[in-house]
Amino acid sequence: MSCVLGISAGYHDAAAALILDGQLIAAMQEERFTRIKNDSSIPSQAVSACLAQAGLTPAAIDRVVFYENPFAKLERVLLSLVRSFPQSWKQFPTAISSQIGSKIWILDQISSTLNIPRNRIFTTTHHRSHAASAFFPSPFDEAAILTVDGIGEEVSTGMWLGKNGCINCIKSIEYPHSLGLLYAALTAYLGFEVNEGEYKVMGLAAYGTPCFKEEFASLISLSSDGSFELNLPYFAFHTKTDIGFSAKMEKLFGPRRHPGKHWDFESSSQDRKYANIAATLQWYTEEVLLGLARNIRQLTGCDNLCLAGGVALNCVANARLLKESGFSRIFVQPAAGDAGGALGAAILASIDLDGKYPSPLNSCALGENISNDAALKLVQNLGINHTKPDDIFSSAAELIANNKVVAFAHGRFEWGPRALGQRSMLAAPQDKATRERLNKVIKKREPFRPFAPAILSHRAGEWFEGQDCDMSPFMTSVANVRPERAKDLGACTHIDGTARVQTVSELSSPGLFNVLHALDKKTGIPIVVNTSLNGNGEPIVGSALDAISFFVSHPVDAMVVGDILLKRNTL
Ligand SMILES: [Fe+2]
Repeated sequence: MSCVLGISAGYHDAAAALILDGQLIAAMQEERFTRIKNDSSIPSQAVSACLAQAGLTPAAIDRVVFYENPFAKLERVLLSLVRSFPQSWKQFPTAISSQIGSKIWILDQISSTLNIPRNRIFTTTHHRSHAASAFFPSPFDEAAILTVDGIGEEVSTGMWLGKNGCINCIKSIEYPHSLGLLYAALTAYLGFEVNEGEYKVMGLAAYGTPCFKEEFASLISLSSDGSFELNLPYFAFHTKTDIGFSAKMEKLFGPRRHPGKHWDFESSSQDRKYANIAATLQWYTEEVLLGLARNIRQLTGCDNLCLAGGVALNCVANARLLKESGFSRIFVQPAAGDAGGALGAAILASIDLDGKYPSPLNSCALGENISNDAALKLVQNLGINHTKPDDIFSSAAELIANNKVVAFAHGRFEWGPRALGQRSMLAAPQDKATRERLNKVIKKREPFRPFAPAILSHRAGEWFEGQDCDMSPFMTSVANVRPERAKDLGACTHIDGTARVQTVSELSSPGLFNVLHALDKKTGIPIVVNTSLNGNGEPIVGSALDAISFFVSHPVDAMVVGDILLKRNTL
């Protein structure tokens, strides 16, 4: 029996994944424990929680695999700086102190922080981790695999074939040509935070039209075999540490948008222009991904496609891939960003040690459970009114049916960036005003950000076109709302008539399944708005303490925390 741990850390989204005798026991991001968004530090708390899930100590771990090769990364950073000299001279001290100062010693730091002998710690490569994380948890025995992100060691885009329990790289595109870095540069130009604001750009894109195609053609050139090249003078990620685009980009599109400014599409022509830039970026991203997907389909002859890497979190592009790339089925690993590398690294270690890998992923509930005892103690100490209903799911459904917003913290928290019914805020889907309330009052975020519907999987076809697919249980694609249903989905239909649907089964999210079932009985609508349980800029809630802190500081109407129901005194 082997016990292996995969770890990602050092840049963003540190995470740990534990596999015991080929079975995936737990996978968690460090940010859920430290409460630091995208925390990149060595995931010591996530590791402890993974081990606790299996009742093990660090001594039981046979092998730790770090998700990338820090020495190859150092080589790429140094080579890139030398190639970009003299423009890059200012970047030298920061890059050297970051790489030599800590990043290349990360394996020693993991050893000492986690108390695991150094000779049990190994490395793999960044895109191999992504590819393994996409293929092995998929429902396919054979698939083409696309890994697309900002940058790994030197690869930014990988094409792979997964077959007979192995993954092999067929083709790759290397730094500085990177779809992830193109998206990141424009994310920064539009005034959003890189590695965080990419979702916002995707939401914003639906408010614009892709009318800057000519300008984008000077940023990136596409080849008939799906490969692409960036026109580097428009970018600065290779010469500066703080920003991804150059002055030439601002000459092309005009001045950048300043962060934090209120968005106003009605009276600001500038904001409409920025939305058009976002729409064109989204269109180009989809075109590049389609080119890559069609090429890998030709090279492999496969009918199935697996995706990972940060760009694979673009659910609008994933929906287009399913429609237009020629693949019959597509699976996107739900933690497709760098956190997911921990899962890929653990799988590679498990295969290497005893040839075993986990069965297909059917739920993201791989985190730490809510402690009922801790929740009870906290509400008693704080004097918060609470009850323990016989059927907590039916009680939650009753509140939702009465147009209340219910925070729902139940079961093990989710793996990946999406709240899928274990740490969610739930509301009735009909009323557009609910969306305003969630955006403005509770989440305090941009008005154009959409909310997603969660629906009983066997009812999805009644409400959405093209459901249920392999991506919908993990909310990694979008679907068109059936026009005749749009009036009942005012709170979760995006301006372009789509929705990022989550299909829910008893296996994937048992608590949410029960709520939806009860809601369907009461109202005939088996759908809720499902948005993540977190305040603006905060990681999603993890523990009972986080959940109750959220209830105390945000104006939700009620909260389910474990088997306890909290209600505002006004209810
Ligand atoms: Fe990555």
